[in-house]
Amino acid sequence: MYKLIRPILFLMNPERAHNFTIKALNIVSHIPFANSIIKWCYSPKSPTLERNLFGLKFKNPIGIAAGLDKNAECYNQMANFGYSFIEIGSVTPRPQEGNKKPRCFRLPKDKALINRMGINNNGVNSAANNLKKNPPKLIIAGSLSKNSFTPNEEAYKDFEKSFSLLYDFVDMFVLNISCPNVKNLAKLQDTDTLKEIIEHLLSQRLFYDTHKPILLKLSPDLDEAQVDEIVDLVLSCGLDGIVACNTTNSRDKLTTNQSVIDAIGNGGLSGAPLFERTLERVKYIYEKTEGKLPIIASGGVMTPIQAQQLLEAGASLVEVYTGFIYNGPSFAKKIINHLKKC
Ligand SMILES: Cc1cc2nc3c(=O)[nH]c(=O)nc-3n(C[C@H](O)[C@H](O)[C@H](O)COP(=O)(O)O)c2cc1C
Repeated sequence: MYKLIRPILFLMNPERAHNFTIKALNIVSHIPFANSIIKWCYSPKSPTLERNLFGLKFKNPIGIAAGLDKNAECYNQMANFGYSFIEIGSVTPRPQEGNKKPRCFRLPKDKALINRMGINNNGVNSAANNLKKNPPKLIIAGSLSKNSFTPNEEAYKDFEKSFSLLYDFVDMFVLNISCPNVKNLAKLQDTDTLKEIIEHLLSQRLFYDTHKPILLKLSPDLDEAQVDEIVDLVLSCGLDGIVACNTTNSRDKLTTNQSVIDAIGNGGLSGAPLFERTLERVKYIYEKTEGKLPIIASGGVMTPIQAQQLLEAGASLVEVYTGFIYNGPSFAKKIINHLKKC
């Protein structure tokens, strides 16, 4: 069915198609029995794939990456499509519009997207209210970032604010310090600034009765020395895990016409071209940490076999975003059925 719907969605500008789909999913979810029917069609039972991580029970290892449900508006629909967890956000303390439109582009020949959304979102309060109104049916990770006008030296305050406002409504957190589309954000990966953010959040966490895991999301554009530095910091501070990776600034290995790529301009590339880098990073971090640090793999998963490869390389969980856009609602089911056979 998605083979028929996708060409229509792909006639629309990607951002419009995205917003339209979220609205449509919300309308459909109010139709009597629709949620049960969708769940029955797309969410296979998979008790053998259950895993316990961070004290949380994931019904399977497949989730949705940050950016798809920026404002916590369609997470339960993703549960119906078979996903066991989702990163909502990234959210910032104050609402922000993001970059000028158009800011999201498809590269169908490469099964990829380029986006420079700039962390547009309705602010952390809006996400918290949505989560409060509509109890989640899957594990929720809150992806946190800073407002673009907040200087990096004060970034820790932004992270702290969203952290405390979301604490009661999410199961875990991911710190997005690696988005390439907000000026200077990726500089937060400098270990001094990063240490300050992490230490503030860890000390704030001590005040809560329940322990909620905090993970850090890396850029695929870091070199090995930078990855080493950050992983050492994560281990020494006692963060709970790593998400590898975000979108890339690289345009290597694209088959799309160079003039089209030039016309699009800057932005983070996601989808198929990212897969080899993600696999390499997961293997590297797994080996370096001797499997002691849980890794959530994100980047370029377009087929069930790729999800399997990442799990075999040491990832505890796998996230998809661009793969969902290109493969449609049955993507998680296909991955889960494949993993069940493995
Ligand atoms: C349109 C778009 C918006 C995104 N927004 C965010 C975001 O707000 N925060 C974040 O951490 N990652 C964001 N990402 C990155 C994804 O979470 C994911 O890490 C990346 O796309 C690689 O995975 P994929 O190849 O499966 O898409 C975004 C990606 C896309 C395509």
